[in-house]
Amino acid sequence: MRHLMSPLDFSVEELEKLMNLANDIEQNPKKYAHACDGKILATLFYEPSTRTRLSFESAMIRLGGKCLGFASADNSSAAKGESVSDTIRIVSCYADICAMRHPKEGAPLVASMFSTIPVINAGDGGHQHPTQTLTDLLTIRSLKGRLDHLTIGLCGDLKFGRTVHSLISALVRYDNIRFILISPDELRVPDYIRNDVLKANHVDFKEVTKLEDALPNLDLLYMTRVQKERFFNEEDYVRMKDFYILDKAKMDLADPDMLVLHPLPRVNEISVEVDKDPRAAYFKQAQYGVYARMALILTLLGIEVE
Ligand code: NCD
Repeated sequence: MRHLMSPLDFSVEELEKLMNLANDIEQNPKKYAHACDGKILATLFYEPSTRTRLSFESAMIRLGGKCLGFASADNSSAAKGESVSDTIRIVSCYADICAMRHPKEGAPLVASMFSTIPVINAGDGGHQHPTQTLTDLLTIRSLKGRLDHLTIGLCGDLKFGRTVHSLISALVRYDNIRFILISPDELRVPDYIRNDVLKANHVDFKEVTKLEDALPNLDLLYMTRVQKERFFNEEDYVRMKDFYILDKAKMDLADPDMLVLHPLPRVNEISVEVDKDPRAAYFKQAQYGVYARMALILTLLGIEVE
């Protein structure tokens, strides 16, 4: 049995296979409509979510399966003090596969140790978000045609943004990837990403504060929201929240082929006027999230469709 905790749980070859499957699902949805008949997905979300939870549920329903779960810790037995390890033992009796989001780093990993069904990390605190990474990789590969030879700007809250940590970890395995890490000083990537991931893999990266300076050189700009829920005080959040706002004037500085991605939800960091720009790919990205999760569910359940 296999779980998904980090994007590195899949080799580059396995990711290739998974993305090919996702693209086939996109092209031939009918072929997969009964692949998970009789299967149940549990979504255990101890933290808010729109896209991740609903796209998991949509993915399972589109495969013919069914879903159960909870959307907040308050309406689960966590509110009574039940541990994650007990909850997953019980959910293992009710479902065939489980996606878990939790505010504590490592909670889905603990669950996987007590589970008899595959557990997917759907976001653990400020740590990792591997299924967003599958979504991001699939979007980049589908729209850019490659995952190598790219200059990628990551902008915003690089400290607490788990999607950023997972995406960097996944992308360092491809050839000739360059990162421009754009953030206020206080929100730079954690040391383990800088040292154990970027430096350890000899990846070319630069840390800068100004978005305008980076924009003309990027193949891809990955914007992120300042992660309000991970701040210790409101004052710091208020000071940081509108540090970057991507608007039409800034888009004019960028390459005509530069893609803009964002895991969403957006707050103010991308002005709505950018939505009309053909380079804005964040809504398409959310659509790719469904195909990526369909492919993941099939892969972890070991279901092959002829
Ligand atoms: C992200 C997350 O939860 O980390 N959202 C998502 O899953 N698409 C990004 C965010 O909340 O800012």
